[in-house]
Amino acid sequence: MISYEENMELMRVGPGTLMGELMRRYWMPIAATAELEDNPIKQMRLMGEDLVLYRAKNGNHGLVDLHCPHRRADLSYGIQDELGLRCNYHGWLYDHTGACLEQPFEEVAYPDAKFKDRIKIKAYPVVDKAGMLWAYMGPGEAPLVPDYDRFHDKGYKQVVFTEIPCNWFQCQENSIDPVHVEWLHGRWSRALGIGRGPEPQAHIKVGFDEFEHGIVYRRVSEGTDEDHEMWTVGRVCLWPNALYVGHFEWRVPIDDENTLSVAWFNVPVPGEAPFEQERIHYWSSPLTDENTGRWIDTHVMNQDFIAWVGQGALADRTQEHLGGSDQGIIMMRRRMLEEARVVADGGEPKCVYRDPEANQMLYLPRQGRAREDQGLPPQFRNPDPTKAPRNVHLAKQPQWILDEMDSIWQERLAAAPDYKPVEQTIE
Ligand code: FES
Ligand SMILES: [Fe+2]
Repeated sequence: MISYEENMELMRVGPGTLMGELMRRYWMPIAATAELEDNPIKQMRLMGEDLVLYRAKNGNHGLVDLHCPHRRADLSYGIQDELGLRCNYHGWLYDHTGACLEQPFEEVAYPDAKFKDRIKIKAYPVVDKAGMLWAYMGPGEAPLVPDYDRFHDKGYKQVVFTEIPCNWFQCQENSIDPVHVEWLHGRWSRALGIGRGPEPQAHIKVGFDEFEHGIVYRRVSEGTDEDHEMWTVGRVCLWPNALYVGHFEWRVPIDDENTLSVAWFNVPVPGEAPFEQERIHYWSSPLTDENTGRWIDTHVMNQDFIAWVGQGALADRTQEHLGGSDQGIIMMRRRMLEEARVVADGGEPKCVYRDPEANQMLYLPRQGRAREDQGLPPQFRNPDPTKAPRNVHLAKQPQWILDEMDSIWQERLAAAPDYKPVEQTIE
């Protein structure tokens, strides 16, 4: 059984904590690229640190301390500059490396003092990839953002954010929990009268295997056997903080008691013609129903959120009773703590990618891969075949995105009159 100390070790993310130092060895997706095009300055809290993400007029992105090193003004109210972010209080200017480039008064009054050369603001590197901005908050030379193969697949991509009021680790434990799919999404959805797809089948057997990018979980349900993709391919608990099932769900620590859920979808578009998406859109999915104040329970990830937050802001694992279905969770906890100790001993943990030759189209297993270019499985499709699928994972997909998708679908279907998505089953 897990001790109180070990439980807290798993959850703390601040600088200098065991897991906080492990998580700082990985790039975290923190925003949509398009978001900063719309609003170039964004206040963020990440792993317990208060920061400002910004886009300079020259297109560089920076992630710096929230407070100006001069007299601590709030830089989220700063001024977007050609080269960086300028404090609104006395005009000091910082670039994305943290260098202070200008101190307007000091330079006029004391041109020889070169005071600015002695000023540096905390700054973390930011990379733009797959329509998202990624931050590296660790020491030393930053590794490479993983180049997962799915980023390159043809399709309509979108990024969806939700802030979840609980610790990130319990969110990630959900990524290695096959049986919850049958109950939380299958049977509970039916109890709520919103069941989609085939009747859920009881789990008979689960299996977990570590591989180079994380842990794969497998299942055999009633009516299937070990020849089924649910066992032969399985699902990916992506190291260190994501689920991958064709779409990605990252659980990015905001602080010990809050998590930024970043979901990235790539919906196959109909037809063979090439597809270039001009802009990867982003939206925020709300947690609660604005009329009732109750948690939204109609969508797959919303149901997950209810389970995670229900465990408490900081899940008390000393009170758990783990069963056979939880082998993967036990494995993940053990491996996380092992890798965290590798970092504490000065080593490099699992899944840090530094070789540009090797970091290309990283292969991630997914069920239905071979058939996917023929369309989505039935439960994800729109009952109206002339329209794009609605997002079944997160509530309140904006109508303007649906309209854009519908018009793309209609155009492409008109150009491919013989297009017929192949029937398949998943889960
Ligand atoms: S507090 Fe930022 S320039 Fe003075
Ligand atoms: Fe789930």
